[in-house]
Amino acid sequence: MTEPLPSGGVIRKLWIGEADDYRDHLLRLDAQSRRNRFAGAVSDDFVRDYADLSFGIDAIIHGFFVDGALRGAAELRPIGTPITREAEAAFSIEKPWQSHGVGSELLERTLLAARNRGLKFLHMACLTDNKRMQQLARKFDAELSFDFASVVGEVATARPTPLSLMREILADGHGFATAMFDVQTRLLRPV
Ligand SMILES: CC(C)(COP(=O)(O)OP(=O)(O)OC[C@H]1O[C@@H](n2cnc3c(N)ncnc32)[C@H](O)[C@@H]1OP(=O)(O)O)[C@@H](O)C(=O)NCCC(=O)NCCS
Repeated sequence: MTEPLPSGGVIRKLWIGEADDYRDHLLRLDAQSRRNRFAGAVSDDFVRDYADLSFGIDAIIHGFFVDGALRGAAELRPIGTPITREAEAAFSIEKPWQSHGVGSELLERTLLAARNRGLKFLHMACLTDNKRMQQLARKFDAELSFDFASVVGEVATARPTPLSLMREILADGHGFATAMFDVQTRLLRPV
């Protein structure tokens, strides 16, 4: 299922100190992508406020970085009570990096994170004309049954296994090393 990412691209979880990067990424989305991401037209101020509030304790945000710049993101946010095992998921990829397999990789990581937290129902605010997002969800129909009318996806195996936990830990281990490299590169870059 996994395709190679565009050259120089890496995926890792965002850190709490990266809220500004997330805001700037969301602000860079072109008008159509922003509309699809937020299920309607929203202002720059809305996007800024949204990004400020996004780094809640429970949110898991995977980022797609190219040369240290955040170009794509996937949010997973538990909602309701632990008993309902529901979460919201949302994806954003800047236009030049769309249709290169980044969304597929981010959805795969998001499904793994959902599974490892026992989350069973994923809500995605997906406009009916957003065919690409629908195609993307369909690619994962073995793991996610998606009801487009009610925009709720059901994670097929919402139970962690030792293997699924290990897959997330391994992905995070790689992500941590990459994050450290990014930080060091930024520190060394001339200003
Ligand atoms: C929707 C979105 C997340 C998809 O991510 P992506 O990286 O572009 O998607 P991928 O390259 O992984 O492609 C996923 C599938 O979508 C379909 N697809 C890709 N490009 C497409 C295009 N131009 N038109 C129609 N379908 C397309 C294909 O079926 C593809 O799978 P395949 O390559 O195995 O055939 C991304 O385009 C995006 O951020 N769009 C703007 C915001 C948005 O719509 N968010 C979703 C709402 S939560």
